[in-house]
Amino acid sequence: MRHIMSPLDFSVEELDQMMDLAVDIEKHPDKYAHACDGKKIATLFYEPSTRTRLSFETAMLNLGGSVIGFASADSSSASKGESVADTIRVISCFADICAMRHPKEGAPLVASQVSSIPVINAGDGGHQHPTQTLTDLLTIRSLKGRLSNLTIGLCGDLKFGRTVHSLISALVRYTGMKFILISPEELKVPSYIREDVLKANHVQYEEVIRLEDALPKLDILYMTRVQRERFFNEEDYVRMKDFYILDKAKMELARPDMFVLHPLPRVNEISVEVDTDPRAAYFRQVQYGVYIRMALILTLLEVKVC
Ligand code: NCD
Repeated sequence: MRHIMSPLDFSVEELDQMMDLAVDIEKHPDKYAHACDGKKIATLFYEPSTRTRLSFETAMLNLGGSVIGFASADSSSASKGESVADTIRVISCFADICAMRHPKEGAPLVASQVSSIPVINAGDGGHQHPTQTLTDLLTIRSLKGRLSNLTIGLCGDLKFGRTVHSLISALVRYTGMKFILISPEELKVPSYIREDVLKANHVQYEEVIRLEDALPKLDILYMTRVQRERFFNEEDYVRMKDFYILDKAKMELARPDMFVLHPLPRVNEISVEVDTDPRAAYFRQVQYGVYIRMALILTLLEVKVC
């Protein structure tokens, strides 16, 4: 039985196969409409979510399965003091697979160690968010036609943004990737990403503060919001929150074939006037998220569709 805690739990070849499966699902949804008949996914969300939880639920419903779960810690027995380990033992009796989001780094890993069903990390604190990364990889591959020789700009809260940490870890395994890390000094990537992921893999990267300096060089711009819930105080958040605002004028500095991605939710960092630019791909990205989660569920449940 396999779990997914980080995108590195799957080899590049396995991820390619999963993306191929997602593309087939997009083309032939009817073929998969009963692939998970009688199966259940439990979505255990101890932290707020719109996209990720509903995307998992949509994915399972599209496969003919059904859904149980909770959308906040307050409405679960966590509020009575139940441990994650006990909760997952119980959920293992009800469901065939589960997706867990938790504010504490490592909580889904603890769950996976005692679980008798596959556990999907749907975001653990500021650490990892592997299924957003699978979504991002599929989006980049679909839009650019490749996952190699690309210059990727990541902009915003690179310190607390778990989507950024997972995405960099996954992308360094492909050839010819260059990164431009765009953030204020206080929100730079954690040192383990710089040392153990970028430097250790001899990946070309630069760290800059001004978005305008990076924009003309990019194939992909990955915008992120400032992660308010992970700040120690509100004043720091208020000072940082509008540091970057991508607007029409800045988009003029970018290449005509650059694409803008964002894991969403967007706050102020992308002006709504950018939404109609054909290079704005963040809502298409959400749709890819459903196909890749369908492919992931099939893979973890070892369901083959001929
Ligand atoms: C992201 C997350 O939860 O880390 N959202 C998502 O799952 N699409 C990004 C964010 O909350 O900023």
